[in-house]
Amino acid sequence: MSADSSLSKVTVNPAVDGSELIRFDKVTKRFGANTVLDALDFTVSSGKHVTLIGPSGSGKTTILRLLMTLARPDEGTIRVGGEYLTHEERGGRLVPAGEKHVREVRKNIGMVFQQFNLFPNMKVMRNITEAPVHVLGLSADEAEERARGLLELVGLTEHADKFPTQLSGGQQQRVAIARALAMRPQVLLLDEVTSALDPELVAGVLDVLRDIARTTDITMLCVTHEMNFARDISDDVLMFDAGRVIESGPPEKIFNDPDQERTRQFLSAVL
Ligand SMILES: Nc1ncnc2c1ncn2[C@@H]1O[C@H](COP(=O)(O)OP(=O)(O)OP(=O)(O)O)[C@@H](O)[C@H]1O
Ligand SMILES: [Mg+2]
Repeated sequence: MSADSSLSKVTVNPAVDGSELIRFDKVTKRFGANTVLDALDFTVSSGKHVTLIGPSGSGKTTILRLLMTLARPDEGTIRVGGEYLTHEERGGRLVPAGEKHVREVRKNIGMVFQQFNLFPNMKVMRNITEAPVHVLGLSADEAEERARGLLELVGLTEHADKFPTQLSGGQQQRVAIARALAMRPQVLLLDEVTSALDPELVAGVLDVLRDIARTTDITMLCVTHEMNFARDISDDVLMFDAGRVIESGPPEKIFNDPDQERTRQFLSAVL
């Protein structure tokens, strides 16, 4: 299922140039009395592949959901490509952004979920073309051409006319990856995308993601328990605990010689 032959046909937004693409400034998120993110600061440079690790409940999914604007921060700001995600500047002041602004900034961000979340009533092709047509305004022909390139990339050319339920979990997840890429986002968010899959289907999905990491400029922010995959693709690994980044660095450092005892403990439990 090597996708190399088709990669030249796939264009994603040019990554800028190693400049800052994502910035969290003192982001706090609470659910009731539970402070999940506590004045969190972090940045991701354009084109980088960053993996978030940390114990269950440490807020990894919450970070991705905030970026996808599926939730809003209680305090602090998030910027993507220099644009405030959920705020707007009006008369020199930052105010909560309206839906239109949020929709515009969100176009730069794609997300793949653990549970695929494909549209069950649409065939594979339409799952991929729906947003490019309705959100980006592509013609049906343009969107289908783009989708065909992406189906080739994820090794599913033969399956364009099937419904999601006619595919294996691994195939459905590869459709979900193609669907996210069809918007040509600058950032791809991946939340434990292989953890709902049967073990024999995991490798195919990770291979597709490795190809994308290797051959495109897309910025990836990835939550995964697949530590070998994280080691392979990551430029940086961020270790979360209790709503903060407690340690970050290149994978060789974090996986082999972390500074924090908490990181050591966590890794010995999952490796
Ligand atoms: N919609 C919500 N309502 C209430 N609490 C929530 C909600 N979403 C998340 N939480 C709580 O926020 C905390 C962080 O959850 P989150 O899903 O971000 O953790 P995680 O690091 O992704 O964990 P896991 O590794 O288990 O996926 C948890 O305590 C969770 O119960
Ligand atoms: Mg999670």
